Amino acid sequence: MYSDAQLSQPHPSRIYDYYLGGKDNYEVDRLAAAEILEAWPHIRTAARVNRRFMHRSIQFLAESGIRQFLDIGTGIPTEPNLHQIAQQVAPAAKVVYVDNDPLVLTHARALMTGNEQGAIAYLQGDVTEPSAILQAVQRNRTLDLSQPIALSMMALLHYIDHSVDDVMATFVEALAPGSYLAICTITADFAPEQVNAAQEIYRVRKLPAQARGRDEVTGWFAGLDLVEPGVVPPHRWRRAEIAEVPASYDAKVSCYCAVGRKL
Ligand SMILES: C[S@@+](CC[C@H](N)C(=O)[O-])C[C@H]1O[C@@H](n2cnc3c(N)ncnc32)[C@H](O)[C@@H]1O
Repeated sequence: MYSDAQLSQPHPSRIYDYYLGGKDNYEVDRLAAAEILEAWPHIRTAARVNRRFMHRSIQFLAESGIRQFLDIGTGIPTEPNLHQIAQQVAPAAKVVYVDNDPLVLTHARALMTGNEQGAIAYLQGDVTEPSAILQAVQRNRTLDLSQPIALSMMALLHYIDHSVDDVMATFVEALAPGSYLAICTITADFAPEQVNAAQEIYRVRKLPAQARGRDEVTGWFAGLDLVEPGVVPPHRWRRAEIAEVPASYDAKVSCYCAVGRKL
């Protein structure tokens, strides 16, 4: 499946698959992951908590009536996948998965199929080119962008090493009223030494990496109504037992997440 060139360079999606205990990773990915784990020993916790936020937020959105999902930065399939969460609540929910890595899409097409009612489509696209993604989604016709959708970007935006303010504004502008934006991304606010050290390892290996501050993440939700509890670490988003989580856990997870609704 992979060429020699693809196996000589670690891939973000395969490193992440390794953190999550998956099998779709190679020696080159595990070596990079080992180095990153030394700098930030809790990155596996961050990956798992991000994944659980995806489950809770997508369930919340499906229960809120959303039936169309556009997920950018899909990653190598890990059960349960986004469409399984959405279609458990609403079997007719439609999902379009987008990733810029063709190898991820090959894995995804092979492993993820819809049910009798809910359609799934896969598109290659780069989140930094929002107009191209939106046009491809329109051409694909699985989703109707004149109706509300949920746009999700889970564990994606920390791979873009420049401002995405304009990118996010373009996506938000294109959303129909009643749509939602759901994001989870890495921050250095709680454990700057560890997260910055891990970020440096990514960059040395020519993998883009950029942790984000709370204000920057909040800015991406400009013009949207933030769902309570706003921009928070993902283990603090709509969890009943939240009082039991110690503050030190925020440093382990080192991510921000939020969900916002376009009025
Ligand atoms: C860490 S995985 C996240 C997987 C899944 N969303 C989750 O939260 O479990 C990040 C994915 O983003 C993709 N990605 C990285 N840069 C991207 C870009 N510029 N545009 C689209 N996808 C990108 C990678 O190929 C990878 O599959």
